[in-house]
Amino acid sequence: TRTQDEEDLPHATKKTMADHLRKYESLFTLTPQRMRMIVEAFTETLELGLNKPNQIVPMIPTYVFGWPTGQEKGDFLALDLGGTNLRVCLVTLQGEGKFEISQTKYRLSEEQKQDDGQKLFDFCAECLHTFVETNTGEGAGQLKPGQSLPLGFTFSYPCSQERIDHGELIRWTKGFGAGNTEGRDVAEMFKKSLEKYQLPIKLTALINDTTGTLIASHYVNPKTKIAVIFGTGCNAAYMERVKDIAKIEHLGIDHGAEMAINCEWGAFDSFEHEHLPRTKYDTIVDDTSNKPGEQAFEKLISGRYLGEILRLVLCELIDEGVLFLGQNTYKLEKPYCFDTAFLSLMESDPTDELLMVIGIFTHFFALETTLAERQFFRALAKLIGRRAARLSSCGIAAIVNKMGYLEEGCSVGADGSLYNKYPGFADRVHEGLQDIFGDKGRNIVTHHAEDGSGVGSAIIAAMTKHRKDAGLY
Ligand code: GLC
Repeated sequence: TRTQDEEDLPHATKKTMADHLRKYESLFTLTPQRMRMIVEAFTETLELGLNKPNQIVPMIPTYVFGWPTGQEKGDFLALDLGGTNLRVCLVTLQGEGKFEISQTKYRLSEEQKQDDGQKLFDFCAECLHTFVETNTGEGAGQLKPGQSLPLGFTFSYPCSQERIDHGELIRWTKGFGAGNTEGRDVAEMFKKSLEKYQLPIKLTALINDTTGTLIASHYVNPKTKIAVIFGTGCNAAYMERVKDIAKIEHLGIDHGAEMAINCEWGAFDSFEHEHLPRTKYDTIVDDTSNKPGEQAFEKLISGRYLGEILRLVLCELIDEGVLFLGQNTYKLEKPYCFDTAFLSLMESDPTDELLMVIGIFTHFFALETTLAERQFFRALAKLIGRRAARLSSCGIAAIVNKMGYLEEGCSVGADGSLYNKYPGFADRVHEGLQDIFGDKGRNIVTHHAEDGSGVGSAIIAAMTKHRKDAGLY
């Protein structure tokens, strides 16, 4: 095989890969100076979103008022429609920051993501029905006749809300495209589906995964002030002073109150593309997506896109006759075939020969590689992964600036496959924060968050029920 023949390869091969790498290094590397410029524009964008309605980064008021007390109690259902799966959870909050959870995951097909929206919610109700039958039926003994369970629906797409159990879908993100849903109240659509199945369930709160993560993280770690999801999508939430949300001034909410804001920061720099360093690979990802121009920030960071960015670089080098000469590369030419998990694997390969990288290329793409090529692929993954982490630092830094958290420091609850599984991702985010803020950047620390879409959703449902019972907004 080529691997064994490597020593016979002309020295040039090695040199060529190193030359190419230099080019990509300069394309994908973010200097501290550039990062600070991005932070500045980002901070202004956050302010704008709070002041005026309908901005690109919408800074959505969530009607989640303040932090949980930790004393929230009871049984709650949580439904989590994220990017990849549908999950139903039964959460028992026991107070004192303790809880129990049982859950079931259901797979969502590509067709369901693109089909009619009402059908998607019908499917959600169907899964809930199955789950409730098995988990809270007579056998399970948790539901008394006539009793209905409060439900927190984690719907992780941008929805503008007028109340906590309402949400107009601004636009689908993360590759979803179900029809007849954008611009409509998804809470209302979902209630219709619940009625169809006559479920003993009451939709109490419609929440975003970032908001859930913020609340769940704070429930167990009260130092948490910001939450970020690094998954199929990328987004953040934080707690804001009501008096600083100028666009809801007219509602007359108590100025002393605080409300969680779902930033929807994935939309930063959409359409205009003024601030972010986009390479031509990023432009291709954008142009060929189902939503060109949108989610510009997210497309440089989230798990849905990183593998595709790397694949596009490889395809360019195939076209230039640099890689895989004489081999059939059709498998690698299929859009989105290069999973972001492969980047994680390549970066974590502990062997000198990069045996895991060999495995990926032979097993999934029927391609043989030289050691020099494998080292190049790994270095490329590192560039793309590092850029994603450093851009995320810019977003976090903007919230820190906005809220003045740098001196006192704060904890950032983080979740999602990229944060949890990509080796070194968190370290790179921290490194980025220090590049932006200098030594003080050490005051901002991320930690793995509690399950926001399940537990967080339940806590918010509990907080909401409590407020309603007390006759509050
Ligand atoms: C996308 C969604 C956002 C969600 C994020 C993480 O950015 O628009 O609502 O929070 O993905 O799942």
